[in-house]
Amino acid sequence: MIDRETFTELMSGVCAPVTVVTATAADGRPHGSTVSSFASLSLDPPLVSFALDRASGLLAHLQPGDPVGVNILGAHQQELASTFARRHRGPGLKFDGVTWTVRAGLPYLPESAGWTAGRVERHVDGGDHILLVVHIEEAESTAAAPLVYARRVFGTHSLLAVAS
Ligand SMILES: Cc1cc2nc3c(=O)[nH]c(=O)nc-3n(C[C@H](O)[C@H](O)[C@H](O)COP(=O)(O)O)c2cc1C
Repeated sequence: MIDRETFTELMSGVCAPVTVVTATAADGRPHGSTVSSFASLSLDPPLVSFALDRASGLLAHLQPGDPVGVNILGAHQQELASTFARRHRGPGLKFDGVTWTVRAGLPYLPESAGWTAGRVERHVDGGDHILLVVHIEEAESTAAAPLVYARRVFGTHSLLAVAS
């Protein structure tokens, strides 16, 4: 058995992408949360996955069949990552003061480094988290530098110096 600290310390050293996953509630209000567990899962069919804490407020709006958006943040969007990581905010409140629009019926953060949208295909039990498998229907990438998270700080990706 490994203890909690050993596990979290190990995972803090794994460099992760930073996204804001979004959904639209039945009453039309936008929901969004910062998510670093986003990953590519399958090319054919095109599937991605991410894990949400069972206590996540967003999870209720992402049931199998529901549409879901993923804003892949760029290095210039660190503030948005912190805004959407705030817990216990009322419906739609995280979007106060944030520039956003609707794309494919989902909350979209313009200037993001990438965007993809699709439908939740299924939930997979993942201990205290739920793994969501998403079938991708649209995607757009840009050349913007990505925002990444490792050792509990934000950063970006850069080339190693080429050895001469
Ligand atoms: C860099 C970063 C990455 C995160 N990644 C995840 C994640 O993959 N899954 C998750 O459930 N929470 C993740 N969180 C925490 C959520 O963003 C945070 O708990 C949020 O308040 C949940 O909001 P909600 O309850 O409205 O869904 C992350 C937070 C940060 C700062």
